[in-house]
Amino acid sequence: MTHADHLTATRAFYDAIADDYADHFRDAHAADPMDRAVLTVYAELVGTGGRVADLGCGPGGITGLLASLGLSVSGLDLSESMLAIARRENPGIRFERGSMLKLEGHADGSLDGVVSWYSSIHTPVDELPALFAEFHRVLTPGGHLLLAFQVGDEPRHLDRPWGHPVALDFQRRRPERMAELLAAAGFDVRVRTVREPEPDRDESAPQAYLIARRPA
Ligand SMILES: C[S@@+](CC[C@H](N)C(=O)[O-])C[C@H]1O[C@@H](n2cnc3c(N)ncnc32)[C@H](O)[C@@H]1O
Repeated sequence: MTHADHLTATRAFYDAIADDYADHFRDAHAADPMDRAVLTVYAELVGTGGRVADLGCGPGGITGLLASLGLSVSGLDLSESMLAIARRENPGIRFERGSMLKLEGHADGSLDGVVSWYSSIHTPVDELPALFAEFHRVLTPGGHLLLAFQVGDEPRHLDRPWGHPVALDFQRRRPERMAELLAAAGFDVRVRTVREPEPDRDESAPQAYLIARRPA
């Protein structure tokens, strides 16, 4: 699959499932103590009023939570259907369409924080160095990156979610390997947290949270 093909497939998948996805995950992160703790630590590291981009924001639940923690946040996503929900549910927050692999709207060093909450899981492994270089470019020296993703070695193939005629691979990754790639992109990895799957949330893999800083 070419770069353009994989973005098109990801966008088509999330356009098809946006309403069901939003209904399923609405408030899930805000209700989960671990997610809330990670996001609160992250918001404190960035600092009140910090300029943060939630990249691959989906329906905007995490974007809204970051705003409630005092951050000056905007959202970006490939999927127009996801963005329509994010805008409706988070009036006052700016959401734009685009790919986080090419952040044309963000100048070098213009952000205090970048969040990729389960959005790098569709980026092919050979494109991760370019993705992390782009995150590094837009962060100001001393700015913080937060990554969340599922842990593992094999992708999970999701076929016909909620009955929609679409399918997509969800990559699982090793936190140590992600930390190496972040270091290679110039980041100082500050936090590596892994929690066990929550059966109540229908999770089948451990979940990883990494916080990395662009050195000052
Ligand atoms: C699993 S969802 C996570 C959504 C949201 N962060 C959340 O936790 O609810 C993945 C999201 O990442 C977006 N995405 C994947 N690759 C992207 C890319 N290259 N640029 C922008 N958004 C992307 C998808 O469109 C989708 O909305």
